[in-house]
Amino acid sequence: MKLKQLEGLLGDLQQFHNPKVELEQYPTGPHIASRMLYTADFSFGDVSNKVVADFGCGCGTLGIAAALLDAEYVIGVDIDAESLETASANAGDLEVNLDFVQCNIGTLRWRGQIIDTVVMNPPFGTRRKGADMDFLQRALEIASGAVYSLHKTTTREHIKRAAIREYNAASAEVICELRYDVPQMYKFHKKKDVDIAVDLWRFVPQKNEGKGI
Ligand SMILES: C[S@@+](CC[C@H](N)C(=O)[O-])C[C@H]1O[C@@H](n2cnc3c(N)ncnc32)[C@H](O)[C@@H]1O
Repeated sequence: MKLKQLEGLLGDLQQFHNPKVELEQYPTGPHIASRMLYTADFSFGDVSNKVVADFGCGCGTLGIAAALLDAEYVIGVDIDAESLETASANAGDLEVNLDFVQCNIGTLRWRGQIIDTVVMNPPFGTRRKGADMDFLQRALEIASGAVYSLHKTTTREHIKRAAIREYNAASAEVICELRYDVPQMYKFHKKKDVDIAVDLWRFVPQKNEGKGI
């Protein structure tokens, strides 16, 4: 599938009908989502024929992109049941198969090395301090191949240090810096749209045979 075609399909997906600010529910736009998954697939071979998990999947954009790029199996995880209903409807509309699980990422426990790649646009931790780091830690424990994640550029040094020193990543690389459009979704948003600088990261977990999560 061509990049533009992927972006077009993702652009038609339904987004949060009743966004919850405490969960930092902001959609990942089709421009960023398509480039993120396309890079993971074509530059690194981390999507096609891989088992992919979308952490904090919201309305399913990243996981659906993985399914469209021929992931072997995709599972989306989110704490919010309403978003998962939308994600499921989105997958149905595009006739792709994904499973969805309602779960708090902080308490997620999966046994064995079943997930090759985690893709995620986690909460940035602006509502609950450390939410972004909880996602990163869990993703690095669970993925056996790679983790792709978006984080505010202002947190770059902190993310790198924590990934390598605390969460045992073998490598942590910023693939590119992107402009993330935050649409005017909540009452406290004064401006129509704002964009913030985010880093697209690729983390490689330490090889850890038989790691039980
Ligand atoms: C920035 S949004 C990203 C949404 C989605 N990935 C997308 O691409 O549009 C963050 C998502 O993380 C979810 N979330 C927040 N805290 C969570 C938690 N502790 N466990 C699981 N999901 C959580 C929110 O419900 C929301 O869908």
